[in-house]
Amino acid sequence: MTRPFYVTTAIYYANAAPHIGHAYEVIGADVIARFQKLIGKNVFFLTGTDEHGIKVEKTAAKHNMTPKDYVDHISHAFQETWQYLNIDYSRFIRTTDQDHYDVVSRLWNILYDQGDIYKATYTGLYCAGCETFTAPRDLTPDGLCPHHLTKPDPVEEENYFFRLSKYKQQIQDHIQSHPEFILPEFRRNEVLNQLEELEDISVSRSRRSVSWGIPVPNDPEQVIYVWIDALSNYLTGIGWSTDEAQFEQYWPADVHVIGKDILRFHALYWPAMLFAAKLPLPKSILVHGFITVAETKISKSIGNVIAPQDLVQRFELDTVDPVRYYMMASTGFGQDGSYTDEEFKNRINADLANNLGNLLNRTLNMVNKYFNGEVPKADQDAISLLSQETLNHIRELYTQYQFNDAIQQIMDLVDQSNKYINDAEPWALFKEEKLQELANVLYTVLDALRQVAILISPITPTISQRIWEQLGCQNEIQKADFRWIFGLPLPAGQRISLGTPILPRLESEIVGAGKKK
Ligand code: MSP
Repeated sequence: MTRPFYVTTAIYYANAAPHIGHAYEVIGADVIARFQKLIGKNVFFLTGTDEHGIKVEKTAAKHNMTPKDYVDHISHAFQETWQYLNIDYSRFIRTTDQDHYDVVSRLWNILYDQGDIYKATYTGLYCAGCETFTAPRDLTPDGLCPHHLTKPDPVEEENYFFRLSKYKQQIQDHIQSHPEFILPEFRRNEVLNQLEELEDISVSRSRRSVSWGIPVPNDPEQVIYVWIDALSNYLTGIGWSTDEAQFEQYWPADVHVIGKDILRFHALYWPAMLFAAKLPLPKSILVHGFITVAETKISKSIGNVIAPQDLVQRFELDTVDPVRYYMMASTGFGQDGSYTDEEFKNRINADLANNLGNLLNRTLNMVNKYFNGEVPKADQDAISLLSQETLNHIRELYTQYQFNDAIQQIMDLVDQSNKYINDAEPWALFKEEKLQELANVLYTVLDALRQVAILISPITPTISQRIWEQLGCQNEIQKADFRWIFGLPLPAGQRISLGTPILPRLESEIVGAGKKK
């Protein structure tokens, strides 16, 4: 039986349209899902939208819409963008889905019945942006929320609380005995430091302050608030209340992919809830950094929000793959990254157009010219440019979510292949009529291209498919198997096809900019 693999993204607040920061996260998760499929795993990939809460309620009112109409609109925008980005998810969950209501109520009842949820009066500072109460010590020296730079509201209310503090020791033990639980490693200490001050958290709000949410079971005056609702999506997605067999198959999650701003909730609140519900903890929480635009926080008020579609249009791309590639190549997962048009253009031109595109075009042209467009037959003297050791290394890098390093290794192989052609001078071999040597050289490069197409397919599935087709392969690259890399060489005699260049250079400063002027 193929082993299961369960990957999730955060669920995105349904109060603003998706931008390249959100895209970065979902592309990362998609690369993980596609790579795990490539190595033969049975993957479930969950993503979706987080649709309740005061922020949504307020934004909907600003747009003169009901909360439901508003979240329908935003959730569709996310789904469309994910489709555009070629995100191959298994389910798009919405916290307004009926089965999610059932899961949240079920989890609430378990916690309440065993005394882990209790009612108390609370006075505190509430940040609507974070949708959570913040401790004064976590604010900036001016008393602002460090994430939203807004003043939190003083709130006094009777709420339900979750006994987070009860699980402090258990969480600490788990983090310390599972080094892979929080990745990358430097994020662990951040969490361990926060553990010291762990207090019980408010998990409901009065219906008077927030009406858009899942009601507390048996208390219509209260609405379940944010984190129990949001985090439990990871259970709903695989059928905790609807499909026990599927749930058993995929839980615990292999990896929750999230941004650094919500680490606390995933590394402290979520484990406590799972301990309380007697469910196993996810294996890893993979924490990525933030994408800025030219070092500036992406923000509507600053006016620098870039949607993934904007990039495709700006550079007149005929596939979204350069966006996927740039995102994964330019910023190591865990680091912060800064987007600029200039860097985008330079990176795509250098890696995809010049290095990979050029290798493909020159190789196919030579095969066309010297061997009538058929894959030549190599003999035992033909070499492989990819070593088993490098292949193992690339696999390891993907498995450890170090996509930029994996890309670097793959691009090194492309580079090496270009150099190999320059050194071997196939045109000279042709002139000298050394046809077997010529066949060996071109075969070697064609097979390296085949390997590159598979190795990079989790990142650039469309470009990989195009290379695949130009090499004359019939099956879909999406169904490729990692074992094909050494196990299924190109058959001699297979017809290649020249087609149009798959990776055109991005020429002007911004392609199309001239037309707009
Ligand atoms: N709804 C909560 C998460 C609940 S998960 C159970 C939330 N939503 S969010 O829309 O604000 O953020 C969703 C994800 O997008 C988070 O992981 C967040 O870190 C990520 N990003 C939002 N802006 C980002 C960038 N500019 N760059 C990279 N990731 C960013 O938090």
